[in-house]
Amino acid sequence: MSEDIYQDVFSSFRGEEGELISILLRVQERIGYISEEAVMRISRFLRLSENQVYGVASFFSRFRFDAPGKTSIKVCMGTACHVHGGSLLADAVGWDLGITYGQATPDRRFDFQRANCLGCCTLAPVVEINEQIQSRVLVTKLKETMNRREEF
Ligand code: FES
Repeated sequence: MSEDIYQDVFSSFRGEEGELISILLRVQERIGYISEEAVMRISRFLRLSENQVYGVASFFSRFRFDAPGKTSIKVCMGTACHVHGGSLLADAVGWDLGITYGQATPDRRFDFQRANCLGCCTLAPVVEINEQIQSRVLVTKLKETMNRREEF
């Protein structure tokens, strides 16, 4: 990872402990996850131990510690989607890819996340594939899409 990215992120902060979450968010925005190098660099910048940085980051489910996959699949698990079968869709994706949400496939082709609400509840259940909303998704339709994975 380029030195410049961290320098660039740190340049907006004063190096105070209270800035940890904001820095973690900014780093994840830039590189997609919190790498070992990121933990080390942040710990030096804030004069905290790496365990302290990792401990705070791992407390929040929004931080991830492995590189994201190329094709992003987000299954909405908000209330409207949940009652319309969102968990069945999540099970289908997880089963098909052999991973659970929060993970990428070992070849980094797919990334599986769940969302709390994607903002289009009337179209529930909703799945977002590479930032494109798929509405009123059925497990069979999703499986067809997953089977065409070469297209991604
Ligand atoms: S609950 Fe799924 S889009 Fe709102």
